[in-house]
Amino acid sequence: MLKVAAGLVAAALAALLLDWYSPSGLRRPVLQARSFAPEPAPGNETNNLFWLVQVSDLHISKFRDPSRSTDFEKFCTETIDIIQPALVLVTGDLTDAKTKDNIGSDQIEVEWQTYQTILKRTKVMEKTKWIDIKGNHDSFNIPSLNSVKNYYRKYSAWRKDGSFHYIHHTSFGKYSFVCADATLIPGPKRPYNFFGILNASQMEELSLLASESQDSNHTIWFGHYPTSTIISPSPGIRMVMRSATAYLCGHFHTLGGLMPVLHTQHHHGTLELELGDWKDNRKFRILAFDHDLFSFADVNFEKWPVVLVTCPKPFLYSSSAHEPLQRILHSTHIRILAFSPSPIKFVKVSIDGIHLGDALQVSGPLYVLKWSPQSYSHGFHQINVTVQDVSGNSTTQHHPFAMEENLSLKFDLLPSWILLADHYIWVRVVFALVVIIQVVFLIIFRYLGRPSLKGPLTRAKQTSLSLHILSKTNLFFYFFLLLSLYTALGPWFIGEIIDGHMGACFSFGVIVDGHFFQGSITFLVGILQVMFFNIPLMAYLCWCLFLRCQGNCFGSHLYNVKRRHAVPVHLTMALLFSWQVYSCFFLLQTYGALAFFLSPLRTWIVGLTLFVVHRSWTMNSSTLRTFIVQIKNNQSS
Ligand SMILES: *[C@@H]1O[C@H](CO)[C@@H](O)[C@H](O)[C@H]1NC(C)=O
Ligand SMILES: *[C@@H]1O[C@H](CO)[C@@H](O)[C@H](O)[C@H]1NC(C)=O
Repeated sequence: MLKVAAGLVAAALAALLLDWYSPSGLRRPVLQARSFAPEPAPGNETNNLFWLVQVSDLHISKFRDPSRSTDFEKFCTETIDIIQPALVLVTGDLTDAKTKDNIGSDQIEVEWQTYQTILKRTKVMEKTKWIDIKGNHDSFNIPSLNSVKNYYRKYSAWRKDGSFHYIHHTSFGKYSFVCADATLIPGPKRPYNFFGILNASQMEELSLLASESQDSNHTIWFGHYPTSTIISPSPGIRMVMRSATAYLCGHFHTLGGLMPVLHTQHHHGTLELELGDWKDNRKFRILAFDHDLFSFADVNFEKWPVVLVTCPKPFLYSSSAHEPLQRILHSTHIRILAFSPSPIKFVKVSIDGIHLGDALQVSGPLYVLKWSPQSYSHGFHQINVTVQDVSGNSTTQHHPFAMEENLSLKFDLLPSWILLADHYIWVRVVFALVVIIQVVFLIIFRYLGRPSLKGPLTRAKQTSLSLHILSKTNLFFYFFLLLSLYTALGPWFIGEIIDGHMGACFSFGVIVDGHFFQGSITFLVGILQVMFFNIPLMAYLCWCLFLRCQGNCFGSHLYNVKRRHAVPVHLTMALLFSWQVYSCFFLLQTYGALAFFLSPLRTWIVGLTLFVVHRSWTMNSSTLRTFIVQIKNNQSS
């Protein structure tokens, strides 16, 4: 009965999770559907069409990979000259801002100068509208926006801090681009600005920008941080941007190659499209509005031809609340944008495996092929477009499309979870849980009556006995109780969170210069601390104390205990301990000598650990003696 109930609860939870994190590329009438005119419908003309480019996370660096900037210069000349976008959005982390050892962080002027020199030398700002915004790396170690260290103000193209609304005017409509700037002010050094924060007044400003953009044909929002790494007051950043067709961001790169595609859709239909980095992957994105149908393709630098099928667009990335999707049914032509440095040889189109013919060039990059969309008005269909240039390079793009409103396709669960979960919330819950579990164990075993040792000493009995010994010995009980409480409440370290500006780091946030940034990544660091140090150390000391009570001393236990048990235990603890030692070094490198010395949870804990381990083998308390006697009596009886 209990099993069935548990199963049902688990199934319901899973279903909820799936539903929440795996939104379908459809047409929920959550937002009051705007009524769209069926005209103008896509045909064989070049009007009602423009495209733009996004690139993110350049990380131009003084110390590493100079080809990041040389390739970027080529991007600003060759790529931009071939694609000729109406505008370019650079979504943050223009510079790397890491010190030579790759651990510390600081604004490095020559990185900014390199960036600006590329913009000037390539004259890219004369060729297109260039909008570059700050990322977390561009705000490391900046005490205030007015600081000279805020090089963004001096060397970027846009130069204005904060959120803004830019309108791209065309003869066929208005297109809004709203930047949400969630970078921290002042900007702590790494790693404590991995999450962005928007306060109430910044949210109000964004709501204003959202309402300003209401009468535009489309609104695109963009920022550096995915919405899952922005802390914002209720109703939350996703709610404020619900009238946007898409939110474009960077920041996650490809999660070290694990997540090459991070796309999803909010519950109101707004697409969230994270773009892989320029830094290591040389990614960029081309986006188009074709008769107000939105489409995009994520591509690699110098991988030609670049191909974007704008009509029929992919069903997965559609939102009836934001786009006039019925125009696909009214279109007369399949429309494709194809770009290459060499002339295009052919653009072959097939649907459901049947070759329909070659699309022909109208002008510029636009290729069209006459079709009758009514033949595909039911169910899903697969369009396949192959473009080859005269140099023999070819690219194939394919995607499912559909014209019925009541179909559904789902985004993958994992990318959706990464982009839609409010990570700063679950890390809090998990951190609180692991701390509470450890404290509860300590307290229970301190006040639980002594166990009877009748019968054979099973593994479970040994474990419980060792917990009794540890919790009932004052030194260890208070050590672990204080360690747990201190991890949760105390300052982990105090030091220059920003050069010249004192601050303190807690599990629940960072204080610097009178500003409090609520915790996010700090909770994650806290979870790692508890799971990989506090709890293992407690388990290790339980084990040591149990051996003591069996009559061993440090020297003899290596002979009495099976070595294949003892050696891995000591090695594991040594490894975890050396990780703790390394984190002291990390602290020294990132926040300097003061933080290194004023760090109860880093440097001090290293010393205290050595002390308690030493005491576990040498101490001679009455509690321990009574356990020794009890175990001896049990063994002899
Ligand atoms: C943009 O919106 C205006 C006003 O609603 C409309 O007249 C125009 O046709 C739209 N442009 C496109 C390409 O649909
Ligand atoms: C919100 O943040 C902005 C920018 O950091 C700051 O100027 C403003 O004072 C803050 N407002 C509140 C209510 O904290």
